[in-house]
Formats: sequence, structure tokens, C-alpha cells
Amino acid sequence: MKGHGAAAIGGLLATLVLADNTDGVVQWGIQQRQAPPSSTTRIRRRASTFEEVISNQEARGGYFASCRMGTPAQDLTLQLDTGSSDIWVPDSQARVCAARGTQGCDLGSFNPSRSSTFEVVGRNEFDISYVDGSSSQGDYFTDVFEIGGATLQNMTMGLGQQTDIAYGLVGVGYAVNEAIVGSTQSLSSIYPNLPVNMVNEKLINSVAYSLWLNDLDSSSGSILFGGIDTEKYVGDLTRIDILANSQNLYTSFLVPLTSLTATSPSGSDTLTSRQFPIPVVLDSGTTLSYLPTDLAMQVWKEVGAVYSPELQLAIIPCDMQNSKGYFSFGFAGPNGPKIKVSMDELVLDLATSGAPTFSAGAYRGKAACEFGIQNFTSAPYLLGDTFLRSAYVVYDLVNNQIGLAATDFNSTKSNIVAFPSLSAPIPSATVAQDQSEATNKPSVTTPAYVASAGFTKGAAADDKENAAPGPSPSLGLACALVVISMLFGSGQVFPASR
Ligand SMILES: *[C@@H]1O[C@H](CO)[C@@H](O)[C@H](O)[C@H]1NC(C)=O
Ligand SMILES: *[C@@H]1O[C@H](CO)[C@@H](O)[C@H](O)[C@H]1NC(C)=O
Ligand SMILES: *[C@@H]1O[C@H](CO)[C@@H](O)[C@H](O)[C@H]1NC(C)=O
Repeated sequence: MKGHGAAAIGGLLATLVLADNTDGVVQWGIQQRQAPPSSTTRIRRRASTFEEVISNQEARGGYFASCRMGTPAQDLTLQLDTGSSDIWVPDSQARVCAARGTQGCDLGSFNPSRSSTFEVVGRNEFDISYVDGSSSQGDYFTDVFEIGGATLQNMTMGLGQQTDIAYGLVGVGYAVNEAIVGSTQSLSSIYPNLPVNMVNEKLINSVAYSLWLNDLDSSSGSILFGGIDTEKYVGDLTRIDILANSQNLYTSFLVPLTSLTATSPSGSDTLTSRQFPIPVVLDSGTTLSYLPTDLAMQVWKEVGAVYSPELQLAIIPCDMQNSKGYFSFGFAGPNGPKIKVSMDELVLDLATSGAPTFSAGAYRGKAACEFGIQNFTSAPYLLGDTFLRSAYVVYDLVNNQIGLAATDFNSTKSNIVAFPSLSAPIPSATVAQDQSEATNKPSVTTPAYVASAGFTKGAAADDKENAAPGPSPSLGLACALVVISMLFGSGQVFPASR
């Protein structure tokens, strides 16, 4: 996401293109992919071919999709981002691409001089910075833009002439969050961004889309503009109100997280936080999820994750992906939707080139993985891909509502229902009752951690001797005992002393 202190935009890939713009929807296949190697990409899940050291930098990851732009059309693969609102592409002359010789940027770059329809509309007016410190600057331009077989003749986009990111993004957030609005401090500079332009061009009926990221172990999901697919979720689709910012503007997909429970075969715990109700942004451009530290520490204690000061990350033995436990995230009060996120969605590879292992402590000898729930110091907190994969999420930017349901992993069926008109509510969704109760502050208690034993039991079944004990007080979330040494492809070894 744009302009926040915590997270990461990611490096996956994309290709599948499915088009269906005859009945008021446009579907765009997205594929999970590894970040291409480049000087600025940081390793994330399944980064087996990357030769980079993870220091304490945020990992890059994400969902990418293919599109075409210019006349004649040039092919590019762009990252989908609900946390920002501009489309931008790396200029083929940008140093990050040109430095790679004729090969250029792996996911493509745009050569404006080869497009007869290219037109600069704002010289040096494009300037965006992302949460992980990366950025892109250059001109705003208009050109033809094609996605999923749908063509927009006059799409305003940013040209990344100075950038340290080797691939472009498709920001599908609120137009009010466009980079130009931030730099001019004026709402009058808003232009129709992708979802708005699709409505203007009558490709879809409402400024709305649905996101199905699918399983961590599956390579593809989809974004459906203008409709929902009732075969991609199970149970009820419930709609809740998006929170406005302090100026009463809707700028990001901020919703109130009002409860979190941990459940395993040994029981269930209600986790509490001084921060409830917690404003969280649903951000597909962020790999991990970030909660307030008091709550994140309870989550870590349930599963036996430990915070590594060296990596500035909570880490966990990789075999915990077999854990039978799950977390249930509740939104918009006691009658709002609840989304279960199981442990196999929360244990991510740190790197595959030379498995990092714990070198001391209770987990000695075990492979270390990144945990999907991290901590952050201040609002807004983020629910990124580690949460979003378990949910089917409908973004309604006209009524300022989010539809949430449990995802149907690996569904191959489809039943698409278009929004019938511009202000129509999310189809097939029921509104959450008593959302005013979302503002209640629950009392803060210490969980009994009855679920904890069940989280770790069975996860390391083939390794009983060395199986990690349930998190014990002596292990300590402050992590004083955790010493890890990590061996990466480059041969660099972190000091294993502490
Ligand atoms: C293209 O879009 C821009 C920005 O929305 C607008 O100012 C311009 O008039 C449009 N041009 C055409 C030919 O429609
Ligand atoms: C979905 O498919 C992937 C890849 O085939 C598989 O690894 C995963 O276990 C499947 N998930 C579920 C929930 O069936
Ligand atoms: C996360 O928690 C750890 C352990 O309590 C703490 O040292 C660190 O400063 C926290 N990070 C943030 C960003 O709050």
C-alpha cells in the first residue's frame, strides 16, 4: 500500500487473461508468482532462485496480472494493488530496466516512443512512494490500456522514469487516493482511475470488484471487475461499512476488526487488545498481516512463533504449517462476518536457497519460516495476503462497503453475477446487523491459552523427539533465547550469538 510505515509490495507474477465483458463484468486472471530477480526485489515465499540476503527488509510479494498498452500493444505484467490507486509502468529507459541491457525488466516495461497513441498529460506530475520505501516518479500520460480483453482507449497512467521497482502496478483503490491528489493537495486533480474508467466506458456497471486470491499453494486467483462469483465462496457473503477517515473521506479499504479467536483441537481462546476495535486496511499489495503488538504477541504465543530481533520478524518452525489450529477474524461487531485463517496459510518460506534453521533454543535444528501475522506500532493496521487468501472480498467503492465470505479454495466452478447498476448493493450479500456495536471496547483479559497445546501437537508428528514444546513462559515472546543462524544461497551466515 501507499504511504504507510509497515508493509511490502510484492513480487508474484501473472498471466492468465480471461475476458467476459459482454454481460457487465470484466474478469482478469491473476497468478501468484515469485518476484523477478533484480537489485531491488526482496525475497519472499518460494524465492528459490533468488540470491539475496534477507536482512530485516520487508519481503516483496504479491499478485500479478498481464495487460497490454499502447499502439501497437506492448505486453506488461503488473502487480495488482488494492492499497494504491494509480496504474503505473516502468519506462524502458528507466535505469532499473535499462541496466539489464536488451533483456530489460523481466515483467516488461513501456516504450512510449513506440506507441502512436501515447500522450503526456502531466509532465513530472507522477510521484508515488510505497510503504516499504520504494518509489516511482515521472510523467502522467494517457494511452490505450487493455485488460482481460477489455480495452480502455484513454487511460491515465504514470510513467516510472525514475524508479527502483522493476515492475509496474495496477492500483485499484479509491480515486481520491491517487498520487496526484497527494502531490497537489487538491481533489480537483482526480482523474478516472481504472475501476472508474471502466464504468465510464460502460464496461461494468458499478465501481466495484471481487478479489479471490485462492490458496497459498495455488498459483492463481482472480479479480472480477463489476460483479461477484457465487461459486468462489462458501456460506454467506456479508457486507459491512468501510470506515471514513478523519476528514470523512473514503480513501482506503479500512474496516473495523472487532474480535480474534484462536482455536485448535485443545480448545479455543478469545484474544483481546487495548486497540479493539482495530481499524485494518484490506491490502492486496501487502504480503503479510500487521496487528497491534499486544494482540500479535498473543497470536505468537498460541502458535509458538518467536520474534527475531535480527530479522525484525516473527518466525516459526516451518512444520507448523501442518498445525490443525486456526484463527477467526471478526469484523464490524458481534454479528459481523468472521473469517477463519488456518495455519497452512500463515507459515511462509523465508527463502528456499539454503533453508534457514534455528541454531539454538527449543527449535534447534528446525527449518525457520516467516509467520503470516506480524506486529506494528500504530494504526492503520494491515490485513495483507496472508489474511486475504482465506476470504472472498468484494470491494464496493460506490456504497463504501466490503463484502466478506469464506473463500472456496481451488474452486473450478463459476457463477458470475454482475452489479445491475451504479449504486446497486453487492449482489447476493446480506448486510451485517448491529454494526454500531463495532465501536464497543471489549475488556482486556489474559487468555488462558487452552488452544496453544493443540496448535503445536501433531504439527511435527514425524519428529517426536525434537518436537517443539508448546510455547512455554521460558521461551518468552521477547525472544531472548532465540538464536537463529541463516544460511542463504550467497553463503552469508548471520551471527548466531546472543
Ligand atoms: C482522456 O482522459 C483525460 C483525463 O481523464 C481527459 O482530460 C481527456 O479529455 C481525455 N481525452 C479524450 C480524447 O477523451
Ligand atoms: C489447492 O490446490 C493446491 C495446488 O494444487 C494444493 O496444494 C492445495 O492443497 C489445495 N487446497 C485445498 C484447500 O484443497
Ligand atoms: C514487535 O514486537 C517486538 C517484540 O515485542 C518488538 O521488539 C518490536 O519493536 C515490535 N515492532 C513494532 C514495529 O512494533
